[in-house]
Amino acid sequence: MSTQTVRDEYRPRQRRWSAAELLGRLTLRDIEISREQLEELEPSFWNFLCSEDDSRHFYRRAHDGRGRYSDALFSFLEVWREDEANHAVGFKMIYQALYGQSSEAVDARLAARRADFSRIEEILGDEFTMCLVLAYDELATTHAYHRDFAFYDSLGPDELKTWIRLVTSDEALHLANLVRLIGQQHRHRIPEARRALERIVEVDLRGGDYGATFVLDHSGAGFNLSPEELSKLCAQAIVKKLERIHGGVPAA
Ligand SMILES: [Fe+2]
Ligand SMILES: [Fe+2]
Repeated sequence: MSTQTVRDEYRPRQRRWSAAELLGRLTLRDIEISREQLEELEPSFWNFLCSEDDSRHFYRRAHDGRGRYSDALFSFLEVWREDEANHAVGFKMIYQALYGQSSEAVDARLAARRADFSRIEEILGDEFTMCLVLAYDELATTHAYHRDFAFYDSLGPDELKTWIRLVTSDEALHLANLVRLIGQQHRHRIPEARRALERIVEVDLRGGDYGATFVLDHSGAGFNLSPEELSKLCAQAIVKKLERIHGGVPAA
């Protein structure tokens, strides 16, 4: 089978839905939240919005290095960026409902953010490790949002219960798409995955400022595990998924 045929076979899966339609009628009056909680949670809600919106920066960075990446990666990224933009729209609507800021004011704050990829250049320079860092990030995000189901349920409106479940299922689908992409495009490199993920965890845990890069922003509220526990759990889970594809135990 030619490489071209393999590339053509890759089709990321996507569930289409509209955050704007789902949350269009949401107002603070419908939401059961105390003034104290509102105040306390503002940085978290802002952080979730920023993280989703930073997908724009990640996509642009991938596009700038286009020659280094396969068509299959871009098939994934096109679907992925649509979903992440939809998540950003939803978090923006929730933020506006909760904090009463105008759409223009929120957009201006988001536009002022500057991306700095220097901390992860080494990881993004290679499509295989780029897929791994994205997979790691999508899994960590899936865990974080899943843990927030009870919180969103406590807010009252049915659309918020639906919202957090749809977002979480998108993040899980992104992970599944990435695992399939690695299996199709980089199967021969799966034995390197464990070591590469250890390196990614090391960079993640080393800290440093999150540079609006979409990936490796695990400092936000919603992660009930310690960063160390969560990172190691995610890395191990991805290695296991890849082992299943490869049919063997990756080299340590
Ligand atoms: Fe997302
Ligand atoms: Fe995602």
